[in-house]
Amino acid sequence: MKFFVDSADVAEIRDLATTGLVDGVTTNPSLVAKSGRKFFDVLAEICAAVEGPVSAEVTATDADAMVAEGRTLAKLAANIAVKVPLTWDGLKACRALAQAGTKVNVTLCFSANQAILAAKAGAAFISPFVGRLDDVGEDGMDLIRDIRTIYDNYERFTTEILVASIRHPRHVTDAAKIGADVCTVPPDVLRKLAQHPLTDRGLDAFLADWKKTGQSILKA
Ligand code: G3P
Repeated sequence: MKFFVDSADVAEIRDLATTGLVDGVTTNPSLVAKSGRKFFDVLAEICAAVEGPVSAEVTATDADAMVAEGRTLAKLAANIAVKVPLTWDGLKACRALAQAGTKVNVTLCFSANQAILAAKAGAAFISPFVGRLDDVGEDGMDLIRDIRTIYDNYERFTTEILVASIRHPRHVTDAAKIGADVCTVPPDVLRKLAQHPLTDRGLDAFLADWKKTGQSILKA
């Protein structure tokens, strides 16, 4: 499973990228607004910080304007993936951009049928929002399960399932069990993946016992 960082906070992304565990980044207009910075500056810095795909979202709503914005975004760096919303216009734009060789991430997916359309439109990634489905009383992971089953039924569907709107570590575990291709994870949730109280307690005990031996590995 690949991990993308779901953030437009360049300092956070750079810090997490030092682990070597970051395979890409996703941004959206809300995350860019939260950063308080210029979109293109943020994108340039993120694209330099990570090798993998960096999703940059269009803000136009008609297909031709989305394609124009997508082309502009794609010129910023070789690893830009253009993000378009799952509307008819977004699907048209996806097809045009994909045919021109641009990676497209189709976002705001909330149904299996939407995911089928995105795959047919040539999307490199489909972004189902699990947290927002949970928020309205549905089970977001049911959608991931359905999309996995459907995509696996058709060899021609090469679109990667990019699980978005992740809110807690359990979402990551569940997505991995289903076989989702990518989880895009907010920085705080990504850090939580490494944490367990028994790890901390165990390490404290090992270090205390080691100290009692008076030995040093480097000065053996
Ligand atoms: O990648 C989309 C994601 O950022 C949405 O997350 O928490 O706003 O539903 P959230």
